[in-house]
Amino acid sequence: MSGRYGRVLLTGAAGRIARQLRPLLAPHCETLLLLDREPVGELAPNEQVIHADLADASTLAQVLGGVQAIVHFAGYPREAPWDTLMPANVIGVANLWEAAASAGVERIVYASSNHAVGFYPRDTQLDHQVVPRPDSRYGVTKVFMEALASMHADKHGLRAFGMRIGHCAERPSDARMLSHWIHPEDMAALVHVGLSADYLCETVYGVSDNARSWWDNSRAEQLGYRPKHSADARAEALQSVRESDPVAERYQGGSFAAIDYAGDPERPAAAR
Ligand SMILES: NC(=O)c1ccc[n+]([C@@H]2O[C@H](COP(=O)([O-])OP(=O)(O)OC[C@H]3O[C@@H](n4cnc5c(N)ncnc54)[C@H](O)[C@@H]3O)[C@@H](O)[C@H]2O)c1
Repeated sequence: MSGRYGRVLLTGAAGRIARQLRPLLAPHCETLLLLDREPVGELAPNEQVIHADLADASTLAQVLGGVQAIVHFAGYPREAPWDTLMPANVIGVANLWEAAASAGVERIVYASSNHAVGFYPRDTQLDHQVVPRPDSRYGVTKVFMEALASMHADKHGLRAFGMRIGHCAERPSDARMLSHWIHPEDMAALVHVGLSADYLCETVYGVSDNARSWWDNSRAEQLGYRPKHSADARAEALQSVRESDPVAERYQGGSFAAIDYAGDPERPAAAR
C-alpha cells in the first residue's frame, strides 16, 4: 500500500470544508476518491471523481471495493425541514455505513456537529461522554449518525471517529466563535488523528485551542490532536458581537436553538 492511508473516499468533496481538506489529505493517500453530487473542481494527480448521490445505495456498493477509510463530510449543513434533511443526513448516512461494513472498510472519520449538543447552556463544560442534547432537526440527524456509527463499531468492528465540529473558517467572526471556532488546518489535523489513531468508536470536538471553549477535548488530545490555532487573539474585537435573541445567546447551539423555540425566552430550560 503506497500512501500512509491507502485508498480513501472523501464524501462532500465539493463542499466548503472538504475543499480545504483535500490538499492536506491527498498527499497522504495512495488514491483520494472524491464523491459529491456537485462538480469538485480541478484534480490533484492522485484524486479521482465519483459523481454520485449518497441516496443511491447501489453506486456506493460499487465504489467502496479496496477502500481502507472514508472521510465523510457530505450532508445538508444547517437546519431545514425533514424532507431536505432526510436524503443526505439520514438515508445517505445509513447507505454509507451499510456499504462500508459490507465492503470491509476499516474506519470512517465523520463530520458530526456542535448542534448534536447545542441545547446545553454555554456555562456548561462538555466532554466526549456527555449525553447528546440536539438543538434542531439538523442536530438530531447528527445524533443519528453518531448512534449508527456506534452500532457498526460494536457489531462489525468498523472504527468510527465522530468530530463535533464547531465552526470551521479561516478566522472567527463573532463572540460565539471565540468558543467553538476551528481553523481549517486544525480540522485537517483532527482528520489525520481519525485516520491514524488506535480506537474503536470515539466522539471528539472539532475545535481549535480556544481558552473560552465549552468543551473538554482531552480525549482528542490523548489520541494525538495538537491544535495550532486559537481564537483568543480576536477576543477583544469580537466579545461584543453577540446574538440579539436571548435564547440563541444562552445555548451553545446559538441561533439553531432559537429556531421554533416555544418556551419563555427569558427562562432557561430545566438543567439536566
Ligand atoms: N461548516 C462548518 O463549520 C460545520 C460545522 C459543523 C458541522 N459541519 C458538517 O460538516 C460537513 C461539511 O460542511 P460544509 O460546511 O463543508 O457543507 P457544504 O454544504 O459546503 O458541503 C457539503 C457537501 O455535501 C454534498 N452533498 C450533500 N448531500 C449530498 C448527497 N446526498 N450526496 C452526495 N453529496 C452530497 C454537497 O453537494 C456539498 O458539496 C457537513 O456534514 C456539515 O453538517 C460543518
